[in-house]
Amino acid sequence: MAGTVIRPFRRDDTEPVVALWRAAGLVVPWNDPYRDIERKLTVQPELFLVAEHASVDGAPTVVGAAMIGYDGHRGWVNYLAVDESRRGEGLGAAIMAEAERLLVERGCPKLNLQVRSTNQGVIDWYRSLGFEPDRAVSLGKRLIADGEPGPSGAAP
Ligand SMILES: CC(C)(COP(=O)(O)OP(=O)(O)OC[C@H]1O[C@@H](n2cnc3c(N)ncnc32)[C@H](O)[C@@H]1OP(=O)(O)O)[C@@H](O)C(=O)NCCC(=O)NCCS
Repeated sequence: MAGTVIRPFRRDDTEPVVALWRAAGLVVPWNDPYRDIERKLTVQPELFLVAEHASVDGAPTVVGAAMIGYDGHRGWVNYLAVDESRRGEGLGAAIMAEAERLLVERGCPKLNLQVRSTNQGVIDWYRSLGFEPDRAVSLGKRLIADGEPGPSGAAP
């Protein structure tokens, strides 16, 4: 974590952030990350976080990112990723702690997130941060088609 800061996204983070999400397996055919970034910049852009590592001898590099939002009832986290070479150092937990801090600051009473059901390792990881599965089924309805439909026809 030394030399790493968590700060709001800037436009020139776009390419490194999309590359980070692609490498982390978070970009799916039915979501366009560039359109998702453009939309996020119109709604609570200050809650779009980037973790940046400032090396002594090189340019700062993006090593983590997450989109956070508060809809007035629940907080949400999407697109959380940490660069593979920096996992296990507490960076993911630090981004989530900053997300929680920003949400509590805004009076948000509960944080929700969705994890693909096949991503059991990450579900366990969230459990280690105090998250529990809700007794609810997550439903979704696509309003704007950005790409191909998902494998089941649904677009999470
Ligand atoms: C999920 C992810 C962001 C975690 O980032 P990370 O920086 O490696 O996580 P951290 O280093 O903060 O882990 C914090 C703690 O969780 C623990 N942990 C890691 N994996 C765990 C698991 N499967 N079960 C339980 N605990 C786990 C670590 O040991 C660490 O505990 P410690 O601080 O007591 O040693 C990262 O693995 C990632 O980018 N994954 C791919 C993208 C993805 O699936 N994102 C989630 C989309 S919903």
